[in-house]
Amino acid sequence: MTILALETSCDETGVAILRGRNGDSRSELLASEVASQIAAHEKYGGIVPEIASRNHLIYAPRLLDRAASSANICLSEVDAFAATSGPGLASSLMIGASIAKGLAIGFAKPYLAINHLEGHMLSPFFGRVENGNQIRQNVSLIVSGGHTMLIFVRDLGDYQVIGRTVDDAAGEALDKVAKMLGLGYPGGPEIEKHARGGDPTRFDLPRSMLDSENFSFSGLKTAVRYLLPKIVISSEAKRSRETAMKNSVGNATGSLDSARDDVISDLCASFQEAVIDVLVRKTIAAAQKYRVSLVTVSGGVSCNQELRKQLGEACVREGLEFKNAEPWLCTDNAAMIAFAALLRSQMRFESKVTEEIDPNLALV
Ligand code: KG4
Ligand code: ZN
Repeated sequence: MTILALETSCDETGVAILRGRNGDSRSELLASEVASQIAAHEKYGGIVPEIASRNHLIYAPRLLDRAASSANICLSEVDAFAATSGPGLASSLMIGASIAKGLAIGFAKPYLAINHLEGHMLSPFFGRVENGNQIRQNVSLIVSGGHTMLIFVRDLGDYQVIGRTVDDAAGEALDKVAKMLGLGYPGGPEIEKHARGGDPTRFDLPRSMLDSENFSFSGLKTAVRYLLPKIVISSEAKRSRETAMKNSVGNATGSLDSARDDVISDLCASFQEAVIDVLVRKTIAAAQKYRVSLVTVSGGVSCNQELRKQLGEACVREGLEFKNAEPWLCTDNAAMIAFAALLRSQMRFESKVTEEIDPNLALV
């Protein structure tokens, strides 16, 4: 069974070809191409939907060609075509879904509409299971730019939402705070980079809704916004003190710069710690409540090394097994969509080509 999948839910264009095997061997990823549009959106500090869809139109046919040639197959050899059908940006989703439907119609093969969140959620099992029966019961934390969710996964296709964000997603909060600090886009990797070596205890930032299974990151973001002028004022006071010193004892520019860098670094570390602390505590509490022995994490924010480390350590302390996807599978890509489609096709799942994309598609 060979699946070709497209992922165009947001600003990455992805095409992947995955071959499922019968017997004891696992699925084999024949190709996975991703074209990032970060450079096109960076100057706007966020994603511009029309630019994203225009770029999908440009990149998708090229990636299809590249994927087929690196997999060394003709498209006529593909057994099913899949695409992300939601949630995401309508004008972006339409591009991938239309291409997959067109190919399915042209080659008279099945079309599979895949939920982007299911793609993320199953990604920690990528390359580790050969069919859907091996998706073990787990509590799954999905942390991306658009979603923060805890799911009780009973089986493939049997999901229960435990909690979700009531305002900003974790990734969205990271992106917004990075923008406030004048760091680059996307903000998550920037915050992670600047947090390295910073003091996570320097700023006491709030952990919201600890009694609930839902998440809220908007208060934390606002706390950083209110803190920022105070930090700027105190670093300016430090600067003027140092300038006075410089005039009397020589050049102190190096120490001025390093004082400012230290504040940013400590603020990023404190903010990142507040986000991770909440994610870890709620995930562990959910795993205990639902009596699972396995915790999984997926989505762009799960690239974060500190989150992986802290969640992994908390799982060890609580006697839980922990699985995360490799970093290249955490941010948006088509391999995870192909994998979800492969497992679903083994359950005889098939979509109608008349099925519409749904920007608000729910997981359950
Ligand atoms: O899963 P994803 O690629 O797209 C969505 O489905 O939303 O996630 C993108 C999010 C962005 O908010 C980005 O800042 C965040 O993932 N992200 C990270 C890291 N890499 C990407 N957040 C924290 N640390 C990272 N290393
Ligand atoms: Zn995603």
